[in-house]
Amino acid sequence: MKKTSIIGSGNVGASTALYMAEKKFTDILLVDIVEGLAEGRALDAIEASPVRGYNTRIDGTDDFSRITNSDVVIVTAGQPRKPGMSRADLLAMNSKIIKSVSEQIARYAPNAIIVMVTNPLDVMCYVALKITGFALKRVVGMAGVLDSTRFRYFLANELKVSVANTTAMVLGGHGDSMVPLPRYSTVCGVPIPELISKDKLDKLIERTRKGGAEIVSYLKTGSAFWAPAASVAEMVESIILDKKRILPCSAYLRGEYGIEGLFVGVPVKLGKNGVEEIIELNLTPDEKEALHNSASSVKSIIEQLEEQRIF
Ligand code: NAI
Ligand code: 2OP
Repeated sequence: MKKTSIIGSGNVGASTALYMAEKKFTDILLVDIVEGLAEGRALDAIEASPVRGYNTRIDGTDDFSRITNSDVVIVTAGQPRKPGMSRADLLAMNSKIIKSVSEQIARYAPNAIIVMVTNPLDVMCYVALKITGFALKRVVGMAGVLDSTRFRYFLANELKVSVANTTAMVLGGHGDSMVPLPRYSTVCGVPIPELISKDKLDKLIERTRKGGAEIVSYLKTGSAFWAPAASVAEMVESIILDKKRILPCSAYLRGEYGIEGLFVGVPVKLGKNGVEEIIELNLTPDEKEALHNSASSVKSIIEQLEEQRIF
């Protein structure tokens, strides 16, 4: 059985463990710095296995060395947002956490593929890449699958059709400037702009961009975790089972879409080697401009990070 370690056993980490256990494709190790948290979450999850019918291993620990031989390491360690905070407000605290977590991954699981979740997402991918020195294809961030599943749900709900027939594509950085692409979003193959008026579509696009904040405003003490965890599990399944799914993920770009040296959300082929291909969609000048604006936001957060001299 393949092995997936999850660093950070809070809301997203623990929920990801459960979704993955239900799909039975990997053994799972939960890790957290808070003593007892990962062990408790793992025991709780494994005690559900007789009822839910999975027999994968789920262990918990505060000992990082146990991530040895992981095929995939998911990183959810760090602070979530509180009301009024942007994802970028998490930069100072989370960049220190991700630096230390990345050092441990490089030490104990040097052959793993990292799936980053911690915010600000695209910048935390950059920190992990710089600190581990891993190959570009072995560091990938989860955001586009989440932003797209939210957009899919909003579209299906508006059109009163099944989510199963609704596809969506959201590119760009995981922030308010993300780029939902209606032309590449469909119901049964029919592009969304043919099905919804521009006014209504604009509202759904805005709701998608603010989807994370909408949940934070309800929860008040933290951010979304079920839709994020389901999205992480989908990415990891594609890697572990070498499914080669095309999913929007944060990947390091070297000139694709005219963007250089940044992690930005684009469609990628995810397989056993990690990011096996970056897919370049044909974009209109407006779509390209929106993607470049979003990439500029990612770049400006990296510039703030460089002032903190983290590397
Ligand atoms: P949480 O607070 O429930 O869990 C975070 C866990 O990380 C805590 O249990 C904490 O003890 C642990 N932790 C902190 N430092 C650590 C370290 N050095 N080593 C190991 N564990 C450590 O937070 P939640 O809701 O699980 O969110 C986690 C992160 O994921 C946040 O930064 C959040 O913004 C981000 N997020 C990103 C999403 C995305 O689309 N990329 C979606 C949802 C959350
Ligand atoms: C979200 O979009 C918190 O980034 C996370 O829900």
